[in-house]
Amino acid sequence: MSAVVNNISRNARKNRLLNLSILRYDPNDPASVPRMQEYRVEEAESMTLFIALNEIREHQDQTLQFDFVCRAGICGSCAMMVNGRPQLACRTLTCDLPDEITLAPLPFFELIGDLSVNTGKWMRGMSERLQAWLHAQKREVDICRIEERMDPDLAEQIYELDRCIECGCCVAACGTAQMRKDFVGAVGMGKIARFRLDPRDTRTDDDYFELIGDDTGVFGCMSLLACHDVCPKQLPLETQIAFLRRKMATLGLGG
Ligand code: SF4
Ligand code: F3S
Ligand code: FES
Repeated sequence: MSAVVNNISRNARKNRLLNLSILRYDPNDPASVPRMQEYRVEEAESMTLFIALNEIREHQDQTLQFDFVCRAGICGSCAMMVNGRPQLACRTLTCDLPDEITLAPLPFFELIGDLSVNTGKWMRGMSERLQAWLHAQKREVDICRIEERMDPDLAEQIYELDRCIECGCCVAACGTAQMRKDFVGAVGMGKIARFRLDPRDTRTDDDYFELIGDDTGVFGCMSLLACHDVCPKQLPLETQIAFLRRKMATLGLGG
């Protein structure tokens, strides 16, 4: 019954006139001043914000900057603030939004212009700082060597964390990240959790403590959990961060 009601309300909202209020600013233009610009778009069935923004760029304003690559929730490049909440524009249906839609770039990351931010630069720096790659034992290259079997449950847990698309939503939603630029965010802690689970990684908990056992990592996190709420891939951030913090706290006490 509720699905029927939902469909009726979605159809009834079809062909609304959407009012998109978009933050415009070009940090590379000294004459540019941050301002909100209004655009009107006629809603179509199954319209996403990606489609609405393209409609604007194709028919109303070619100067509007925003990023898209995959249009399928895979590349992470289209994250933006939608009515104050970080989310992927390509996976956001306009029928789930009110008539008035406010769009702004993700905070925290370097602004390129309008809705476009440089998440890649920050993600690269964070990944290098945390050495977020597999530290496997050095072996002679043997193409005939069969990799040891991994327990399927463990492989599943690692896969869960590997689904991160580095969209930056968790960092944009995090109060700690807004206060300190060197915070590695839920995305950084998720990466450490992923390699810590991996039996092929040779690093010890003391090595991980060196990387995230301070206020830039687990002890900077205030358990606000906005990261968990906004992650578009529903990564198990809450449990992983809590586990890491308990583990690092034990190590910090000499355990
Ligand atoms: Fe995006 Fe989730 Fe990865 Fe954060 S953890 S970058 S919200 S996919
Ligand atoms: Fe931030 Fe998530 Fe911790 S929102 S404070 S990283 S629980
Ligand atoms: Fe790739 Fe939205 S365009 S996630």
